[in-house]
Amino acid sequence: MVSARVPHLTAKLQGFGTTIFAEMTSLAASTDSINLGQGFPDTDGPREVLDAAIAAINGGMNQYPPGLGIPALRQAIAAHQQRFYGLSYDPGTEILVTAGATEGLAGALLGLLDTGDEVVLFEPMYDSYQACVALAGAVSRPVTLRPPEYAFDPDELRAAITPKTKLILLNTPHNPTGKVLGRDELQIVADLALEHDLIVMTDEVYEHLTFDGVEHVPLATLPGMRDRTLVISSGGKTFNTTGWKIGWICGPPGLVVAAKTAKQFLTYVNGGPFQAGIAVGLGLDDAFFAELAADLQAKRDRLLPGLVEAGFDVYPTKGTYFVTVDVRPLRPDGDGMAFCRELAPRCGVVAIPNEVFYANRSEGRHLVRFAFCKRLDVLDEAVSRLKSLSSARS
Ligand SMILES: Cc1ncc(COP(=O)(O)O)c(C=O)c1O
Repeated sequence: MVSARVPHLTAKLQGFGTTIFAEMTSLAASTDSINLGQGFPDTDGPREVLDAAIAAINGGMNQYPPGLGIPALRQAIAAHQQRFYGLSYDPGTEILVTAGATEGLAGALLGLLDTGDEVVLFEPMYDSYQACVALAGAVSRPVTLRPPEYAFDPDELRAAITPKTKLILLNTPHNPTGKVLGRDELQIVADLALEHDLIVMTDEVYEHLTFDGVEHVPLATLPGMRDRTLVISSGGKTFNTTGWKIGWICGPPGLVVAAKTAKQFLTYVNGGPFQAGIAVGLGLDDAFFAELAADLQAKRDRLLPGLVEAGFDVYPTKGTYFVTVDVRPLRPDGDGMAFCRELAPRCGVVAIPNEVFYANRSEGRHLVRFAFCKRLDVLDEAVSRLKSLSSARS
């Protein structure tokens, strides 16, 4: 898609436009639709987490927190990485708190990349990746994940690496596909990183949201990888606090310093009392994390059959908030963007056209993403509205 040139906007960001999430969320509001577009839950997270932030505000934690993040949160992140993955990080030099994972990604990419460096990443992808690579003056080299399994072709990955490649950026569990990279797949990435001496950045914001017993494996746990990997995550998805924007980076001191040097000139610091809340959340017992995933799995299992009944081709999802579908059974020209724009006025549901997650937009033209991180009654109502689509056709 060629978009019109935006006056005044830096050449680096020409073509990036306004994010589709703003358009679709405003469409949901203006048509009174159920918003299965943007990925945010419609229930609050654990009371202890909310109360800890309130107590921090009432207790006067209302000025700039330390540049690295409050010590309690850095210690909680270190304990979390150790408890769930056996990864050990020094809270003094190897952990940096950021304004959501989004700022962690931006800080790390701006801090690590020089003009002309290349970044190998996988499409579809979270939309900030390409924009941050472009802001850094670097070049994205996407490798396409294709349905139904959304696996990558190892030869394509190998071919994407050139002498200019500085880092590989991957996301697992993966938005928008729900793909959870297995150990074998991660090993392929790790082997290439070792062979070509590359840094790896792993976006793990959905780390606790996996289904059917599928395990999330951080790439940093593979032999030789901890010291060349920056792990990026955040509390938004795990504690239903997407509006708090508390994220973090873990990695070896040299990589963390590079990210911190850029990050300090973006926000400097953010969300002191919310950091205190997330610190409490990361220390919750194992049952909390298990129930979180089970609850979301039940929501997935409610929406997916409904999407099948509504007439879509539905692809499996093993994690995250999302499921992807092929719209061609309902719209033979496969125009997912037009389908989403018409869906709200036609039946009162909003979804996201997947082409926005691709550098090669045609790869995702016929695909659409639905979020299932909503109450069961909301999902039921959405399904009953979506079923009117196929009855309207017959
Ligand atoms: C893959 C991925 N990374 C990062 C983020 C952003 O996380 P945060 O809200 O912590 O900035 C999202 C949010 O949707 C995401 O899907």
